[in-house]
Amino acid sequence: MKEKIDSIVTSLNDKIHPDLTLNDLEALRVEYLGKNGILTSQMSLIRTLPNEEKPKFGQWINDAKLSIEHVITEQKNILLTKAMNEQLKKETLDVTMPGLNFKKGSLHPLTLVTQDLEDYFIGLGYKVAEGPELELDKYNFEMMNLASDHPAREMHDSFYVTQNTLLRTHTSPIQARYMEKSKGQPIAIIAPGKTYRRDPDDRTHSHQFMQCEGLVIDKNVTFAHLKETLLGMARHIFGEERTIRLRPSYFPFTEPSVEVDVSYVDSDGKTEWIEVLGAGMVHPNVLTMGGYDPKVYRGFAFGIGLERIAILKYKIDDIRQFYTNDLRFLNQFKGVL
Ligand code: DAH
Repeated sequence: MKEKIDSIVTSLNDKIHPDLTLNDLEALRVEYLGKNGILTSQMSLIRTLPNEEKPKFGQWINDAKLSIEHVITEQKNILLTKAMNEQLKKETLDVTMPGLNFKKGSLHPLTLVTQDLEDYFIGLGYKVAEGPELELDKYNFEMMNLASDHPAREMHDSFYVTQNTLLRTHTSPIQARYMEKSKGQPIAIIAPGKTYRRDPDDRTHSHQFMQCEGLVIDKNVTFAHLKETLLGMARHIFGEERTIRLRPSYFPFTEPSVEVDVSYVDSDGKTEWIEVLGAGMVHPNVLTMGGYDPKVYRGFAFGIGLERIAILKYKIDDIRQFYTNDLRFLNQFKGVL
């Protein structure tokens, strides 16, 4: 009897081969272990056996069942693993393949100069302010002490959008806006941004350019503070060996007003001067219009052309280079901080 059962197991083993599909294996399981399966039908013989042989017979059948289940499951697992491996092979990514190379960019020289100025002034406790590029006549001119009939308006040949709005001709209107907002409180700000004038576009002029405004208002602000602040700024940007020179000038929004030159040593070793910005003590009219009592408060202000700084610092010979996005130009600023 044992042989009979063993031979059933062996017959199953003989039928197992690698070409069987999952369906074939399922069919084999039913053939052997199903309700009317080859092994299951052996169970009915148990009734014909003497009682003492029944447990042993039951044990054989059970062992055979486990063994058949084991063989079929094992073969099913082999098939499933094989299918999974094939799928993985099909879907494999070759991570050693060279990827797309992202070209690393560089900061624009005007951004570099802006950040450098911000570093210096933030270190002194200034805030960075901003204002709209499309500006009201009121802030761009009137509150900067340039009344509508003021002859100095000619310095600002402007792009008007409507009668009262224009592309700002300088960053100075940010002074007026900030004063208005500060309601008589002390101020220390810089305000970098784009500005526009009806200028020809050539090597030294552009209808769009950048400025950085500076404004400090407090009770005891003097011209000496202005000078020391600008000296520190020039040294921060151009190097500690530099010095500055102030020349009397005129701006409607400051009194007295100065133009500021920075020293440099030319190729013959001679000290020369180059103009970098305009500055002065805030005009009493500007303070009054901004809501500050000029008998109590004083201020200094300055306006720097950022292209000018970049041109001097990086020895650029044509202002148009800043705006044409020529990579041969821009790539030179990689890694410059
Ligand atoms: N706004 C002036 C210009 O565009 C520059 C300037 C000069 C700004 C003196 C100032 C200043 O704040 O005090 O030419």
